[in-house]
Amino acid sequence: MEHVDNANLIKIGIIVAYIEDAAKRYCALFDLPMQHIQSPSLTDPPTEQTDDRYTGIEAAGATRAQGSPICRFDTEQALGVTLGLQEIGPRSIQGVMAVNLLITGAGRGLGLEIAAEALERGHRVFAGMRNPEKKNAKLSELTARYSDKLICVRLDVTDEDGIADLAADMRRSGLTLGTIVNNAAVLEARNTPIEQLDMEAVARSFDINLFGPMRAAKHLLPLLTEKSASFINISSEAGSLTNAYPGDYPYGITKAALNMLTEQLRRYLKDRGVAVYSVHPGWMKTDMGGEKAPTDPRKSAIGIMDLIERKVVPDTPFHFVDYTGNAMPI
Ligand SMILES: NC(=O)c1ccc[n+]([C@@H]2O[C@H](COP(=O)([O-])OP(=O)(O)OC[C@H]3O[C@@H](n4cnc5c(N)ncnc54)[C@H](OP(=O)(O)O)[C@@H]3O)[C@@H](O)[C@H]2O)c1
Repeated sequence: MEHVDNANLIKIGIIVAYIEDAAKRYCALFDLPMQHIQSPSLTDPPTEQTDDRYTGIEAAGATRAQGSPICRFDTEQALGVTLGLQEIGPRSIQGVMAVNLLITGAGRGLGLEIAAEALERGHRVFAGMRNPEKKNAKLSELTARYSDKLICVRLDVTDEDGIADLAADMRRSGLTLGTIVNNAAVLEARNTPIEQLDMEAVARSFDINLFGPMRAAKHLLPLLTEKSASFINISSEAGSLTNAYPGDYPYGITKAALNMLTEQLRRYLKDRGVAVYSVHPGWMKTDMGGEKAPTDPRKSAIGIMDLIERKVVPDTPFHFVDYTGNAMPI
């Protein structure tokens, strides 16, 4: 597939999302089944029965020449209407505000499960990944099921310019965020004795596991303006000084430093009401955790979403918690 830049990924995502959302609202308003909108909407000639139903779609930025069956989408107009959506006010899903989540490393593993859980709960997800063109089966299935709420964006956490551009594209599109999840990480030089440590692996680990979340904070925090916002750093028990073990040096040290970043940002963002946590997601069955791991990453994702939705509010001296909200030893 050709390289599509983030500005277009975002625009396409928002247009599809908004049009489907508007169509759903229209159907709900007039008690129409959704399939009346979905299949005939853009290609079938309008009939007496379907004609006025285009209106809901046109309201979302699609235009149609008099009598023509084809709707055309004006990107700017559609985006303008998208921004107008914010005037309607925040949506609520069963008592919880629907937010825009941005997740790094969302193409597989825990990141993908957090995306899936958030989508199932009705949130909109900006799924950051290094190669949005390369989708595994699970991501493809999610993309098809949640075309209105899942927007895959290019995001390499080592690429500061790329993150800055993504932030600028989102700002230009009038988007805000309710949650940032710094999930992307690598576990390099696993079990390697210090005498044999490859310092490049150490540097790479810092670049991804620590500098990545710092870059995300630097460029994306200004967008984190939604109510009850949260900034989540996915950490690890390997970052606990209490439980330090001689091995996984780069990983453990970067996660310990990440916990420090969490405490610093927690104090920095307190007055803005942003909840900041380092979360140990458990030993999970993922590429990183391996087959023998006891925890299903979806279970961790459910716990993390409960923290994000403030269904679980930890009462701990430091904000280093496990995925159920219990304090982790610093
Ligand atoms: N698995 C466990 O048992 C365990 C335990 C404790 C903590 N954790 C933490 O949980 C989080 C998720 O781990 P996981 O088990 O899901 O790991 P994983 O299966 O190895 O997945 C890692 C994810 O990070 C992404 N990533 C790596 N480098 C990146 C970069 N430069 N830019 C953007 N994305 C990048 C990967 O993307 P690509 O597909 O492009 O490589 C992938 O999506 C990590 O923070 C990890 O430290 C995991």
